[in-house]
Amino acid sequence: MSLMAIERTISAEAQSVSDEVQNWSLRPTTLDEFVGQRDLIERITIAIEAARGRNEPAEHILLHGPPGLGKTTLAHVIANEMGSTCYTTSGPALTRGSDLVGTLTKLAPRDVLFIDEIHRMPVAVEEYIYPAMEDFRVDVQVDSGLNARTVHIPIKPFTLIGATTRAGLITSPLRGRFGITHHLRYYEIDDLLCILRRSAALLSVTLDDAPLRDIGARSRGTPRIANRLLRRVRDFAQVRTAGRVTSKVVEDALTLEGVDRLGLDHLDRSYLKVIGTTYRGGPVGLEAIAATLGEDSGTLEDVVEPYLLQIGFLARTRRGRQLTIDGAKHVGVELSPDTDGLFFDES
Ligand SMILES: Nc1ncnc2c1ncn2[C@@H]1O[C@H](COP(=O)(O)OP(=O)(O)O)[C@@H](O)[C@H]1O
Ligand SMILES: [Mg+2]
Repeated sequence: MSLMAIERTISAEAQSVSDEVQNWSLRPTTLDEFVGQRDLIERITIAIEAARGRNEPAEHILLHGPPGLGKTTLAHVIANEMGSTCYTTSGPALTRGSDLVGTLTKLAPRDVLFIDEIHRMPVAVEEYIYPAMEDFRVDVQVDSGLNARTVHIPIKPFTLIGATTRAGLITSPLRGRFGITHHLRYYEIDDLLCILRRSAALLSVTLDDAPLRDIGARSRGTPRIANRLLRRVRDFAQVRTAGRVTSKVVEDALTLEGVDRLGLDHLDRSYLKVIGTTYRGGPVGLEAIAATLGEDSGTLEDVVEPYLLQIGFLARTRRGRQLTIDGAKHVGVELSPDTDGLFFDES
C-alpha cells in the first residue's frame, strides 16, 4: 500500500499502535453500549440469552463488513456478556494447524476465540478448525511414517467468532459452520452522533450536538474514523481556541487535515478528478486510473472505491469505472453528455 493511502486521516484501518490504544479506551464493553447495527445486536442478544439459559456457549458467529465498524469490539462485547474470556488471533498469524492447539486446549467452557481476518487463514489451519467447531475436538497428528496416527483431544465447548472484510474469500465449508453470519453496515449519522457523544465524554471534551454532527458527517459511516476525527478536533481546539469547539472549529480543524464536508480526502478527490478530466468521466479501467495516479490498483479498490460507490459518486460498469453527476459536481468537473460511450482501454 502506498504511503499516501496509509497515512490518510480518514482511513478506516487502525493506523498505529497508539491509534489502537486510544480506540481501546473508547470501546463499548456491553451490548447496551454498542450503538447501531440494531438487527445484528438483536440476533446476538437472543443467541446469548438462549445460550446462557442452556449453559452452553453461544453459536459460532461470522462478522463481515468494511474495517472500523466494530467487529473486533463486538467479539469482546460478546465474551463479556457471556462472562467469559476472549482470546484473539488472526488469519495471517496462523501458519500451521498446530498453531491453534495450545489456545484451543486452554479454553474454558463458553470462552470466545476471535479470529480476525479469517479469510487469510491457511487451508491447513482451516481443516484443523472444523472438528474444533463441530465436535469440540482437536485432532493431533503424532509420530510419522508407519507409526503416524491421529489423537483426538477433547476441548471445552467454545464460541468461534470470525471477522472478515472479504466475505467472498471465505470457503463455503468454513462459512457453513457458523450458526450466525452477519454483515455490518456503515452507520447512519444519528448512530455516529451517539458514538461521538459518548467518546467526547470519555475524552472530556465538551461540545454541542451541532459540531459533533459535523464530525459525524465526515466520518464515512465509520466509528473508528469518527473517533479519530474527534481527537484531531480536540487537539486543534486545545491549541487554537482554548478548547472551545464550534462548527467553524470543526471545519477549520478538518480542512487542515484535508478532509472535506463529506469525509473525502485528497486521494479520493484526485481519484475522482482523474476520471473526470483525464478520462472525461469514464468508463475507464481501474488499471488506467491507477497508472495515472501512480497508486496501486488494489489500494484504490480496497480503500478508495468502496466509500465513493456507497455515496453514489462512482459507478462500476461492465466497461469500467464511471463518474456519476454528483461525483463530478463534487470535484468541480463538468461532464459533457456526448462523452458517454467513450471507452479508455485497460492497456
Ligand atoms: N457500535 C459501536 N459503538 C461505539 N463505538 C464503536 C462501535 N463500533 C466501533 N466503535 C469504535 O470504533 C473502533 C473501531 O472498531 P473495531 O471493533 O476495531 O472495528 P473493526 O474490527 O470492524 O475494524 C472501536 O475501538 C470503538 O471505539
Ligand atoms: Mg478489527
